[in-house]
Amino acid sequence: MEPDQQAADEEIMCRIESELPVEENRVYVITGAAGGIGRATAEVLAGEGHRVVVTDIDQAAGENLTAQITSAAGGVVRFEQLDVRSPEAVEELAEQLESDGWPVFGVMANAGIAPPSPATDYSADLWNTTVDINLNGVFWTCQAFGKKMIQRGSGSIVITSSIAGFGVVSPERHAAYGATKAAVAHLAALLGVEWARSGVRVNAVAPGYTNTPILEKARSESPDVFDQWMERIPIGRLNTPLEIANATSFLLSDRASGITATTLHVDGGYSAC
Ligand SMILES: NC(=O)c1ccc[n+]([C@@H]2O[C@H](COP(=O)([O-])OP(=O)(O)OC[C@H]3O[C@@H](n4cnc5c(N)ncnc54)[C@H](O)[C@@H]3O)[C@@H](O)[C@H]2O)c1
Repeated sequence: MEPDQQAADEEIMCRIESELPVEENRVYVITGAAGGIGRATAEVLAGEGHRVVVTDIDQAAGENLTAQITSAAGGVVRFEQLDVRSPEAVEELAEQLESDGWPVFGVMANAGIAPPSPATDYSADLWNTTVDINLNGVFWTCQAFGKKMIQRGSGSIVITSSIAGFGVVSPERHAAYGATKAAVAHLAALLGVEWARSGVRVNAVAPGYTNTPILEKARSESPDVFDQWMERIPIGRLNTPLEIANATSFLLSDRASGITATTLHVDGGYSAC
């Protein structure tokens, strides 16, 4: 390495080390945390020694998960019921955590649904509900917590997109799902650039077919479809929730300090084909 380059690299490292807050006991919020991917991410973040706010619309599942993580990982975890469709509720949670001494450093905007429907059959209700959770809910989450992060001058957000936002996955028919997942990946780019000088990073992860309960159901109900998926996934298997969680934890952390406004594909090569 040229001496000039080495000096420049050292200067950047010194700056990063002196400017970044110590990375321990941070507060992370996960929406849709009671499902497969959110749950794995909550476990990883709690295992890293952070305080995790598990949020979900499903109170029983969220409380159950919180109890399990607390006894297994010994992490500091709290549950808050949250419907991401309500901007008021998200804003209220952001305020509540602040006043409780839980200043949120990082957020995984993860709540999502994928109801199937041929395009010609969408009811207004099904279309609007999908958009309301998968796109609007992600935006309200980013806005409410992003404001606090901007005030503090640091923070990191990861939005859960999907391979369905980057290409047409088939034989599934879920136009609303694919459209919202494309939209949130672009939202990560938009917010990542808009907030870049505020010390707040915004990225997305785009999981491929991931081994969550909903995919297990699809596997048992439609083995043929499942076999078609397997043929198309270069690594020849489903991703695991832990693989999505590890990518998310990386993007949320200071190890990804130079990364914003981008999407990390965790799909076993699917999107490259
Ligand atoms: N599993 C996959 O193969 C896969 C692939 C790509 C992307 N994703 C995305 O990953 C995310 C998590 O998926 P998952 O597989 O863990 O699904 P999941 O169904 O297991 O979990 C989703 C969670 O979101 C919650 N939720 C639904 N509506 C909500 C609302 N209005 N407010 C708050 N929470 C709500 C549900 O109660 C559930 O716990 C979703 O955004 C999904 O689209 C999943």
